[in-house]
Amino acid sequence: MTQTHLITGAGSGIGLAVARRLAARGDRLVLVARNPERADELAALVPGAVALAADLRHPGSLAEALAGDVLPDRIDTVVHGAGIVELGPVADLPVTAWTEQLTVNLVSAAELTRLALPAVRTARGQILFVNSGAGLTAHPGWSAYAASKHGLKALADALRGEEGVHGVRVTSVYPGRTATPMQEEVHRQEGRDYDAAAFIDPESVATTVLAALDLPRDALVPDVSVRPGPR
Ligand SMILES: NC(=O)c1ccc[n+]([C@@H]2O[C@H](COP(=O)([O-])OP(=O)(O)OC[C@H]3O[C@@H](n4cnc5c(N)ncnc54)[C@H](OP(=O)(O)O)[C@@H]3O)[C@@H](O)[C@H]2O)c1
Repeated sequence: MTQTHLITGAGSGIGLAVARRLAARGDRLVLVARNPERADELAALVPGAVALAADLRHPGSLAEALAGDVLPDRIDTVVHGAGIVELGPVADLPVTAWTEQLTVNLVSAAELTRLALPAVRTARGQILFVNSGAGLTAHPGWSAYAASKHGLKALADALRGEEGVHGVRVTSVYPGRTATPMQEEVHRQEGRDYDAAAFIDPESVATTVLAALDLPRDALVPDVSVRPGPR
């Protein structure tokens, strides 16, 4: 049966690499874009995909944005690939940096998961969170982003325990620095020169994601870290 995947963050970086790989094998893709204009762009970026507008900065609006028959009845996979980052020491970080990162990176992932769960249970499917090394270790300057990603780990771990009874698998992928527009932005915020060749190719993270999704159902990858290889 053709697989159906619901993907956030498919407009760029890791999410786009995952979406293109899944589309290339003929799977059905439903992409979540921040607004209708971006939805049109995503549908053009990923051939054959359907794109919905739902702004992850507003988790309270997701239920309405995805109400009715907007979501498929059966979803084999949810890939949470969207994310934002704003660095800075706790001493300087504005409250908006905390609320925006926690909202987009964590609260909306929880709400979208809740909304998709009936269809994922129907498919006995899988929910995959693109976390971060910052979800396991919080370095100076990374407090709010790391807090959102530590929270995302907690969401995934609790969900895995809850949903096993429904046949739903839950996976967290923890990439290190990956050569995407977000990493360029991190370098801008760190005031450092950016060299994409020093970091993981998003295609390699996509390969890890697909390996976790494609694993036969007798097994589950709960957590997997991906780090830049030795150069
Ligand atoms: N790059 C790294 O080094 C790295 C390392 C570890 C973990 N990660 C994580 O990997 C995931 C993907 O990151 P990436 O590097 O691929 O980043 P990216 O290239 O910046 O892509 C992020 C995606 O999230 C979407 N997004 C952001 N805010 C949104 C909103 N309010 N509503 C809907 N969509 C929104 C963006 O949409 P637009 O395209 O419309 O902007 C974009 O498609 C993130 O969760 C990130 O935290 C990245």
